Amino acid sequence: MVNVVPVNLGSRSYEVRIGEGLLGRIATEIAPLLRRRKVAIVTDETVAAKHLPAVLESLAAAGISASAMALPSGESTKAWPEFTRTVEWLLEQKVERRDVVVALGGGVVGDLVGFACAVLRRGVRFVQVPTTLLAQVDSSVGGKTGINSVHGKNLIGAFHQPSLVLADINVLDTLPPRDLLAGYGEVVKYGLLGDADFFDYLEAKGPALARFDHGVILKAVTRSVEMKAGIVERDETEEGERALLNLGHTFCHALEKATGFGDRLLHGEGVAIGCALAFELSQRLGLCSQEAPSRVRAHLKAMGMKTDLSDISGDLPSAEALVALMGQDKKVIDGRLRFILARGIGEAFVAEDVPPATVVQLLKDALTS
Ligand code: GLY
Repeated sequence: MVNVVPVNLGSRSYEVRIGEGLLGRIATEIAPLLRRRKVAIVTDETVAAKHLPAVLESLAAAGISASAMALPSGESTKAWPEFTRTVEWLLEQKVERRDVVVALGGGVVGDLVGFACAVLRRGVRFVQVPTTLLAQVDSSVGGKTGINSVHGKNLIGAFHQPSLVLADINVLDTLPPRDLLAGYGEVVKYGLLGDADFFDYLEAKGPALARFDHGVILKAVTRSVEMKAGIVERDETEEGERALLNLGHTFCHALEKATGFGDRLLHGEGVAIGCALAFELSQRLGLCSQEAPSRVRAHLKAMGMKTDLSDISGDLPSAEALVALMGQDKKVIDGRLRFILARGIGEAFVAEDVPPATVVQLLKDALTS
């Protein structure tokens, strides 16, 4: 079964297809986009070892010639040196404006390749084939592309929508359980920000998802993508509502900076802890009842996920230092920090006027509990 979620953006519209076995029939899926039977594929070394043979086999069987490049795996790839190498390689492959590039991998590959395609010959089309849960429910959809700077994450980039997204849920079976659960942090985020029924569903079925149950994964990825598509359709370039997708992310970015963007805290783990903190902050500001943050924390704990600051190994900076790290976040507007807060589960909104002292006290309490 394949679920199709349209992303309606006028001339930039595309489909997100979610189901089992899409990789093995990629040729059929992308053939209608091709103006000549040739594609360039960019992936990373880990994904290439697991999934590139199936992709190449499908393309070869359909008479589509393909060249492939594998970047080093990991976040440090998402920077100027590998970006330059990718753009030059695509030019060497003689990729033309009418061609299609395939981004096969997680968020690093998708973001970097999307940005390369945004600038290559002033814009070529690309297909996202996300191979992590996080990339399937978030980064492959919506057209945010880019690389990191020494000044911060994702500070260099462009909006460039893919022409198609193929989310093959079979590939998630090869993920380490920790990576699957980290991606689940972004799934929970959708329920928390705008769909209380979806959160109810996740409370009941999340543990099955953690056991790689395909029925639950299909439903969870589809609902997440539907929600993201709706938000992107209404606010493609993040003038307003799209900021809701950053629920938990202001806390997360500070924690990622404090822990060095590495193995101590994966991005999705930081999002989960950040969501718990955002609900706690909402409750302290009198916006929601105590039941809401309690439910968020109880669900994350039931999933065996990092929930509290004490779940992060090693020392963390002081509450004041963490708030200072938030101060460099790219979402700062006119020197003020903004947060995504909630009036209840599924009822998030953008708050511009959060008293810094309340945030410092929240983090002090979180650091000592
Ligand atoms: N990952 C947040 C967004 O796409 O807006």
